[in-house]
Amino acid sequence: HKVDIIGASTCFGQPKLGVDFGPDAIRYAGLVKALEIQGMNVEDKGNITGQYKVDPTLHSAKEEMGLLNFEQVKDFSTELAEEVESSVKLGRFPLILGGDHSLSIGSIAGISPHYENLGVIWYDAHGDLNDSETSPSGNIHGMPLAVACGVGHESFVNLHQPGVKVKPENVVLIGMRDLDVGEREYIKENDILTFTATDVREKGMAGVMDEAIAYLKDKVDGLHLSLDVDGLDPLETPGTGTPVDGGMSLSETQLAMRMLNESDLVTSMDLVEVNPLLDEKNITAEKAVEIASFLFGKKQL
Ligand code: ARG
Ligand code: MN
Ligand code: MN
Ligand code: MN
Repeated sequence: HKVDIIGASTCFGQPKLGVDFGPDAIRYAGLVKALEIQGMNVEDKGNITGQYKVDPTLHSAKEEMGLLNFEQVKDFSTELAEEVESSVKLGRFPLILGGDHSLSIGSIAGISPHYENLGVIWYDAHGDLNDSETSPSGNIHGMPLAVACGVGHESFVNLHQPGVKVKPENVVLIGMRDLDVGEREYIKENDILTFTATDVREKGMAGVMDEAIAYLKDKVDGLHLSLDVDGLDPLETPGTGTPVDGGMSLSETQLAMRMLNESDLVTSMDLVEVNPLLDEKNITAEKAVEIASFLFGKKQL
């Protein structure tokens, strides 16, 4: 594999400062070396920042049509989509480091035009399936999967390339434990394959991943893994903006990544919501490196 690391240095999808430093925190935790040890040819493309500079004193979000920081997210996503697309075009594996989860609007927009049937695994405590009407917060990091499925502001839905980026039947949700009412309805209406945190307890992570892989493998021609570190338990990954108790352990996550590695289906990844300012010793970034290492072939023994 040839891996392009793309730093998506944005915090505009949510209100907490510091998640824009996530990509550098993950670098400091040794990502490039860790992937090289797995035999990857790694190129670090640096950070995308968008034209809006983050000024902490000015980080009071402006709302447009129920969307906080609409302009900033739109601008950032457009720039990120370009960068991600050029990586996919070269046949490289884009590994997008976040940054808040709104960045997936841009990453998926850059990736999906190159596949007929892109699959998405959303490994997260949250569905990120809100739109401006169902969102309890107005924070765009709670909306990117809805946007990818064609729901939301038209300039997000049609970003980079017009039209729906991912079909709901090609989506699998894993680790869910904080879904809003509108998100639950969307999941039901569209019959999205969903594994809650409770399902993982019941079936075990191996059972869940077996089902997820079997569901996707014959119908998708590319698979994007969008991994929000709040999918893990806050005891494992404390440095994240919207922690939810009862999450996946690191070892469950390692197992899931190992199974995905063995499936050989994954063609791109977002690794998001690492906020080093909410972390004492960069533990969350270290876990993020471990997770990526397993996706690229690291094994326990
Ligand atoms: N569902 C909540 C909202 O829409 C929280 C979303 C959290 N998303 C995330 N990527 N951490 O505001
Ligand atoms: Mn293209
Ligand atoms: Mn989340
Ligand atoms: Mn998320």
